[in-house]
Amino acid sequence: MAMSGLAGRHVISIFDLSNDEIEGVFRLTDRFLSALQRGPLSLVAPRRKRGARAKARGNDLAAIGRLCTGQVLATVFFEPSTRTRLSFEAAMNRLGGRVISVADARTSSAAKGERLSDTVRVIASYADAIVLRHPNEGAAALAAESLDEQRLAELGRRVPIINGGDGAHEHPTQTLCDLYTIKRDHGKIEGLNVALCGDLLHARTVHSLSYGLARFGANIKCISPPELRLPRYVKRRLEIEFECVPAEYESFSDLAAPDRQHVIYAAEKRRRRAAKHLVSDEDLQEIIGRLLDVVYVTRVQAERFAEPERAEAVRGSYSIDAEVLRRIGRDTTILHPLPRVNEVDYAVDQDARAAYFRQASYGVPIRMALMALLLGRKRLRRRGKESEEAAAEKRVNHWGTTVRCQNPTCITNNERGMLPRMEAVGDTGLLRCAYCDQEQEASGASGGEK
Ligand code: NCD
Repeated sequence: MAMSGLAGRHVISIFDLSNDEIEGVFRLTDRFLSALQRGPLSLVAPRRKRGARAKARGNDLAAIGRLCTGQVLATVFFEPSTRTRLSFEAAMNRLGGRVISVADARTSSAAKGERLSDTVRVIASYADAIVLRHPNEGAAALAAESLDEQRLAELGRRVPIINGGDGAHEHPTQTLCDLYTIKRDHGKIEGLNVALCGDLLHARTVHSLSYGLARFGANIKCISPPELRLPRYVKRRLEIEFECVPAEYESFSDLAAPDRQHVIYAAEKRRRRAAKHLVSDEDLQEIIGRLLDVVYVTRVQAERFAEPERAEAVRGSYSIDAEVLRRIGRDTTILHPLPRVNEVDYAVDQDARAAYFRQASYGVPIRMALMALLLGRKRLRRRGKESEEAAAEKRVNHWGTTVRCQNPTCITNNERGMLPRMEAVGDTGLLRCAYCDQEQEASGASGGEK
């Protein structure tokens, strides 16, 4: 079945959308956001005779509110969610569509031991698109794969699978919200200095966002306890595919140490003063803070720790408080995918730089834009140069060995009867899992990533 544009496309990873396509989603989001700000779409029915301008505006609102009439979105959430599920559902309602939902795995047949691929094949015959959240890495890729050509032919249509978060792997639609907020606040992404703080090992939002940032040319600084640094496979991908080597620090104050020279020069340029030999450590830290355009914070993902006591030990080892606020610049944006636990002081909410609630509110227009495109109700004017369809094909087709993935929470180790798919990572002697992306020694001698 041929695909055109984004219609029918699965969004499993942020790599399933090209940069041009992401920009296209943002343009449509701008339109939907301003329509949402003007009034409740579904209530707009321009019957009265009005001035031409009001009429055009009313028609626009009414047209948006009817875009997905007759279509059904299934939200299938096997892990807790507030923002992702409800903003997808609000988005579909705003577009005039309907929603069916599994909000808790215990209420679906998964609790009776049904395989995920069976659940997905059935739901695909009830709905026009499926958003899936699942605790196992690679679950969304498996869901997409279970809608193979034969199944799609039976259904007579493509049913896009949207990854609403698969274990500690990826969360591409959160990245759309994150990048959109950054772009709105700074007018660009390229060249910005973005600090990713917190549990970078397990936070799926961070993994997808780091790829997005690297692709749009931002500089990434990672602030985390040593045991919660970005996974090896994420770092390797950033380095090899985008020549992006994130700088790593344990705290905001450490930000000064490793690339001191570089920062001094950058500071010199920014402040137009010959600071190389004159800046004290204290000053330096001041300057560095001011060089950050975005600080993105995540909570410790306690549910993903093999030993939950270890989560307790690292909790509170980094946090945004009055002291950090004093150090960062006046235009630095503070983002958080939410929920927060204790990484951002409640007092920070009053500060104009705190953008996390606005970031969450963009979830609705972003997901409206995505749904309208994936359901073929809107088309992008320009298409991305390199088709991401090819990437998706590669992901599901050309892999295969009998070696099992060593990540215990990978979907291949949790779905009954599922075959592993591992691919050699160049000539590194490593194998990478096609579903969860984690790497392991080809010899099978060493353990998984975590
Ligand atoms: C995140 C998630 O579920 O990964 N939440 C979200 O979707 N906005 C972040 C988190 O749970 O920490």
